[in-house]
Amino acid sequence: MGLGTVAVTGAAGTIGSMVRAALRPEADRLVLLDRVPLRPEAGNEDVRTVDLRDAPAVESALAGVDRVLHLGGVPDEAPLPDLLEANVLGTHHVLEAARRTGAGRVVLASSNRVTGFHPAGHLTGPREPVRPDGLYGVSKVAVEALGRLYADKFGLSVICLRIGSFEPGPTEPRHLATWLSPRDALGYIRAALTAPPATRFVTAYAVSANTRRFWELPDLAELAYVPVDDAEARAAEVPGPLPAGPTGVQGGRYAEPGFTLRHLRP
Ligand SMILES: NC(=O)c1ccc[n+]([C@@H]2O[C@H](COP(=O)([O-])OP(=O)(O)OC[C@H]3O[C@@H](n4cnc5c(N)ncnc54)[C@H](O)[C@@H]3O)[C@@H](O)[C@H]2O)c1
Repeated sequence: MGLGTVAVTGAAGTIGSMVRAALRPEADRLVLLDRVPLRPEAGNEDVRTVDLRDAPAVESALAGVDRVLHLGGVPDEAPLPDLLEANVLGTHHVLEAARRTGAGRVVLASSNRVTGFHPAGHLTGPREPVRPDGLYGVSKVAVEALGRLYADKFGLSVICLRIGSFEPGPTEPRHLATWLSPRDALGYIRAALTAPPATRFVTAYAVSANTRRFWELPDLAELAYVPVDDAEARAAEVPGPLPAGPTGVQGGRYAEPGFTLRHLRP
C-alpha cells in the first residue's frame, strides 16, 4: 500500500531517524518536523523546523498530509510543565492540525510507562486501567486521552502505540521483557499508518515477541502486525545476573520515587 504524504514529528530523534530512512522509499512525500533543523536527504523530503508548542506552525506544516506519525516530545521523566507543554499541548496541536486539515490517520507515540505500576508478573493489555510510573507516564496518559477525544468527537482515525524499549538490542534485564527491536518498531508503525481507514481508535503495546514480555500483543483485527524478534535469543548480551522470574513492577527503576523526586522540589 502506498503511504501518500506522511508527516513525522520528532524526525530528528532516535526513532524518527530510523523511520525516516525506512519510509522514504514508500512515501510519495515525507514532511519531517522537529525543533532541531534537518536537511533533506532525498527529493521527496520536505523538512520543517517547527516547535510543537507553536500551533499555527504545526498546522501549516501538516497541510495536505495524508498520515501523521507523531513522535516529537520529551521522551522521559522531566518537570511536569515541560511535559505538559511538549507532550500534551504539542499533541493537542498535532490533533487539531489533523482535524482542521483533514489528515486521514494520526499515529501517536505513547509509552509502556502509562502502566508501569502493574506487577511484572501480570500480562497487561490496553484495556486495563492506567497506572503511570511517573510524570512522563502521566503526560502520555493525557496524549492517549486527547487521541480518544479526537476520535470520538471529531471522527479522526487515531492509533496509540505504547512503545516498549526501543534499542538495537537488549542491554539490561528489564529489556528481556520490554525490548522493541528496530525491525518490529517499523512493523508496528507501518501497520498503524496503513490500518484500514475505518479504524477509529486503537491502543496497542508495541513490543517485540519477547518470551518474558508482560504486555499483550495487539489484537490482529485492530493492528495487523506480528512481531518477530525475541530478546531471549540475545539474553547472553545482557549483563547478569538475570532474574529467574518476574519481580517488582513493570516500570522497574522508573517506578522508584527517586526517579521522579529529582524533578520535584526537595
Ligand atoms: N525510545 C523509546 O524507547 C521510547 C519508548 C516509549 C515511548 N517513546 C516515545 O516515542 C517518541 C520518540 O522517542 P525517541 O526515543 O525517538 O525520542 P528522541 O528524544 O530521540 O526524539 C524526540 C524528538 O522530538 C523533538 N522534540 C522535543 N520537543 C519538541 C518540541 N517542543 N517541538 C518540536 N520537536 C520537539 C526532539 O528534538 C527530538 O528530535 C517520543 O514521543 C517518546 O516519548 C520512545
